[in-house]
Amino acid sequence: MRDKQPYIIAIDGPSGSGKGSLAVQLAGKLNFHLLDSGAIYRLAALKALQDGIDLEQESEVVTSLADLNIRFEIGDELSIPYLNDTDVSEQIRLESSGEAASVIARYPGVRKQLLAWQREFFRPPGLVADGRDMGTVVFPDARFKFFLCASVEIRALRRYNQLISMELSANIDQLRADISERDERDKNRAESPLIPASEAIIVDSSLLDLEQVVDLVMSHIVEVNENRSL
Ligand code: DC
Repeated sequence: MRDKQPYIIAIDGPSGSGKGSLAVQLAGKLNFHLLDSGAIYRLAALKALQDGIDLEQESEVVTSLADLNIRFEIGDELSIPYLNDTDVSEQIRLESSGEAASVIARYPGVRKQLLAWQREFFRPPGLVADGRDMGTVVFPDARFKFFLCASVEIRALRRYNQLISMELSANIDQLRADISERDERDKNRAESPLIPASEAIIVDSSLLDLEQVVDLVMSHIVEVNENRSL
């Protein structure tokens, strides 16, 4: 009998590990919904900055998120993030937004406020969720849990190439330092730190291209799903 139950694929990992691109590919292949949870933290950080809040002040950040007004609209290729009805797709991709998101993501009150938002993305036929705590906290019952990693060197190089291709300025040493700093903050915070779920499959993408990672992950999904259907 075919198993048609909606299910979740959780993909966690540090920035630049390729989890976002993998999530987009999987969602496309399976026709699943997609949750880019990092975008939600980035939108929350933008809101606090717009309100003129000092991001080091936890209670002020939490208060500013009480009237957070965000949504995503399906665009041609990717979904478009809106903050207070303004398209902020370019702004949220800036390094400074990722940095600000990582700062406020340390706060338990912020994580609590954004939890229900994230869980609402799970609808039939299923969800691919990408972030830092998808498999550990947000969707602990996910059918599949993958943890993507890659060396800091490779991740900095990927980001460098991405910025250059967008005709933006980039400094490889600065990128390496920023990535290491963000890793440290995301891994060492007390609340929902970046760690693989105990049952997660670890995929090191350092020496693989996107197609190889997608093939590896898809073949595991297909195999497990086929065994469930027997
Ligand atoms: O995936 P990203 O680079 O867009 O995420 C930006 C920051 O948001 C990341 O450094 C930490 C935080 N984040 C988080 O704490 N938990 C998530 N599930 C997703 C992102």
